[in-house]
Amino acid sequence: MIKNVKKLTCGLRGEITIPADKSVSHRAVMFSSIARGKCIINNFSSGADCWSTLNIFKQLGVEINEIDKKTIKITSNGNLVQSNLPLDAGNSGTTTRLLSGILAGQAFDSKIIGDISLSKRPMKRIIEPLTLMGAQIDSVDGHLPMLIRGAKLRGIKYNSPIASAQVKSCILLAGLNAEGTTIYSEVYPSRNHTELMLAYLGANIETEKNTVKIQPSILEAKDINIVGDISSAAFFMAAGMIVPNSNFIIKNVGVNSTRTGIIDVINRMGGVVELLNYRVESGEECADINIKYNENIKGCVIEGEDIPRLIDELPVIAVIASQADGDTIVKNAEDLRNKESDRIKCIVTELSKIGVNIEETADGFVVHGKTVLEGNAELNSYNDHRLAMSFYVAGLICKKEIAINGFEWTKISFPEFEELMAILSTNSR
Ligand code: S3P
Repeated sequence: MIKNVKKLTCGLRGEITIPADKSVSHRAVMFSSIARGKCIINNFSSGADCWSTLNIFKQLGVEINEIDKKTIKITSNGNLVQSNLPLDAGNSGTTTRLLSGILAGQAFDSKIIGDISLSKRPMKRIIEPLTLMGAQIDSVDGHLPMLIRGAKLRGIKYNSPIASAQVKSCILLAGLNAEGTTIYSEVYPSRNHTELMLAYLGANIETEKNTVKIQPSILEAKDINIVGDISSAAFFMAAGMIVPNSNFIIKNVGVNSTRTGIIDVINRMGGVVELLNYRVESGEECADINIKYNENIKGCVIEGEDIPRLIDELPVIAVIASQADGDTIVKNAEDLRNKESDRIKCIVTELSKIGVNIEETADGFVVHGKTVLEGNAELNSYNDHRLAMSFYVAGLICKKEIAINGFEWTKISFPEFEELMAILSTNSR
């Protein structure tokens, strides 16, 4: 589907509520499915990725009822049963990698498949540590389809070479069902939703700096209220920063400090962002965010431990950087090449078409600002939801209309994106 985006002639105004966090939604369904008892998950994500997870756990024999699209009831005795059909993770890396950790220690075999994009993504990063734990996994040279043969697992001490919450979560979930202690360390802290939710459900888990230790534990089901997704909110924060006269509130955004790299970058650039109504929901920090346009933003360096805290926001940060004075330099983000697309190459190729002065580097990119965006081009989303939405935000300030192909892929994480953008644009007229 082609989406045409025109320059917005007035600022974004009013108030929106951001839908549920994708990472937390996946974990809520997975962990409630392997917990004992009944629970209600409130404010579940409408993104297709989270529904891939939900459908897989139904297939694994868990009683999952949709009270409505956002309210899910799960009843489980903590056990899963074998599925005769392959488990289809669709486009979702989180589903695949976390699920593998759960399935590796079961008493049955499972096959995981995915779409074209997911089938190109690297799985050795989980296969290697899981194999050290005793897992038996066949893959196509480290890619899906993957056959996981149920095995008895033993705890390991693992130093991960990458800061990946998916790898960390996979190993911790395997550790939940392994003999002995599992200790996982990473170079920089990645998002910690797994640790927080496992602790909330009663697991024996401890974190000290960049190291997490888990003992085999039984989880007890508890209701979970899911906070809004800061990665979805980031598209609006970016739009608010670059569309003149914008001033609006984004309600119910998860502000877990392992995810707030985008807020730090906005502050470093001299943007205007304020957190209001700070609170905690089911173990996750949450706030409303006020964002205001400021024409004097400046470039900054984003590197090292910043990266896992804003990994999914880097495409839209490139758009913001085009409106900042000076250079914005992104380093140590080589894993961006392993996302739903090679996000480094794709951002650089597509944003260059509309006049962004951006250069590709091996582990990131450099944006030289500030530039007037001409538009008048068709941008390829490479079927990557975050690229499609980042390009839409850029389109709001292009002199001439742009077209984005594959816009329907926004359904992967944020089907409500355009509807919410329309609310803020209508309020300003
Ligand atoms: C996620 C972790 C990140 C992120 C992805 C969701 C998660 O991936 O990019 O969108 O829910 O754990 P990596 O762990 O591969 O960095």
